[in-house]
Amino acid sequence: MYLKSIKLVNYRNYDQLYLDFDKRINLLLGKNGQGKTNILEAIYLMSIGKSFRTNKDKELIRFNSENTYIGGIFSKKNDDNIIELVIGNNMKKGIKVNKVSIDKIMQLLGNLNVVIFSPEDLKLVKDGPKERRKFIDREISQIIPLYYNYISNYNKILTQRNKLLKSNYLDENLLDIYDEKLSEYAKYIYLYRRDFIKKIELLSKKIHKNLTSDVEDLKIEYVNQIHVSDDDGLDILKNKFLEKIKSSRNLDKQYRTTKIGPHRDDISIFINSLDVRLYGSQGQQRTASISLKLSEIELIKEETLEYPILLLDDIFSELDQKRQKLLIEEFENIQIFITSAEENHKLIFEDKKDVNIIYIEKGRASQ
Ligand SMILES: Nc1ncnc2c1ncn2[C@@H]1O[C@H](COP(=O)(O)OP(=O)(O)OP(=O)(O)O)[C@@H](O)[C@H]1O
Ligand SMILES: [Mg+2]
Repeated sequence: MYLKSIKLVNYRNYDQLYLDFDKRINLLLGKNGQGKTNILEAIYLMSIGKSFRTNKDKELIRFNSENTYIGGIFSKKNDDNIIELVIGNNMKKGIKVNKVSIDKIMQLLGNLNVVIFSPEDLKLVKDGPKERRKFIDREISQIIPLYYNYISNYNKILTQRNKLLKSNYLDENLLDIYDEKLSEYAKYIYLYRRDFIKKIELLSKKIHKNLTSDVEDLKIEYVNQIHVSDDDGLDILKNKFLEKIKSSRNLDKQYRTTKIGPHRDDISIFINSLDVRLYGSQGQQRTASISLKLSEIELIKEETLEYPILLLDDIFSELDQKRQKLLIEEFENIQIFITSAEENHKLIFEDKKDVNIIYIEKGRASQ
């Protein structure tokens, strides 16, 4: 899959922008603050329907404008597809896939698959569990759009349950109802996370071996409170969850929040049997983060039979030459967008002919 072109109107610092892209490498060069990441953000928006930088869609609208348009044409299995978004100050976000309006993000997911890699991702291993859950959830959602619904429905009920726990009058019957509803979504979340973490482990193990010249063995473990086993089916997962959340009710009442559930899950990452988050060096933590992140690309390929588009935001200045090379060469057949403020990064591609260099200056682009 690859993105052929993009059109932006009144988006961030662009008034009007139209760009054609290369099937392989697109290098966005420009000084700080000129609008490079804004373009990656627009591509990401077409994939997920929201930004990776903000939850407030209105920030995407160019200052002093009423609304913004983001549109792109991408090729998938030799067919052209078009995705369009309109975000306005006084309207609901509009999304169209091939000119047909959709009303649920779930219907957008899986059309244009994108993996973004930015310097923050190098902290994936070091960060708190929230970031790792986000990573896992985004990965699964791209492959199984329905999963996104399970997560958002789970979160909605979780919010209601926590509100009830904080209220002065505690209706136990209502808590029972919430527990039951939560369990209906939690069972899927446990099941998919278990299965996907296993797949991610296999893929990232291989990549990690490559990155460390066979020296380091990477392992990933799914950390959850209900002891999910390999062969647990949906009913068993549901019951395990219900049992656990009921046994924690008194504690929940005391703390006025829900202490049990997939919103407390995490993954542990081991290198040669040692927990990297606790014992790994900074370099090991970064390399493990890269391995995890790159496994996302292979996983999407395995599950959807098409490679996603790779967005590398400012990542080149963070990597040594060996890893820069690996990134580009490991993924010979995929479309990559790279932003950099260092013009000499184009030298990395000197011997490659399929490179499209785009210079960005103050919301204007020249190819
Ligand atoms: N809604 C908006 N309207 C107009 N301009 C905006 C809006 N949102 C952001 N900008 C401008 O966009 C610019 C930032 O763009 P972007 O983050 O893409 O820069 P960049 O080229 O990636 O820079 P860096 O190299 O520092 O990462 C800033 O100058 C900011 O003022
Ligand atoms: Mg940037």
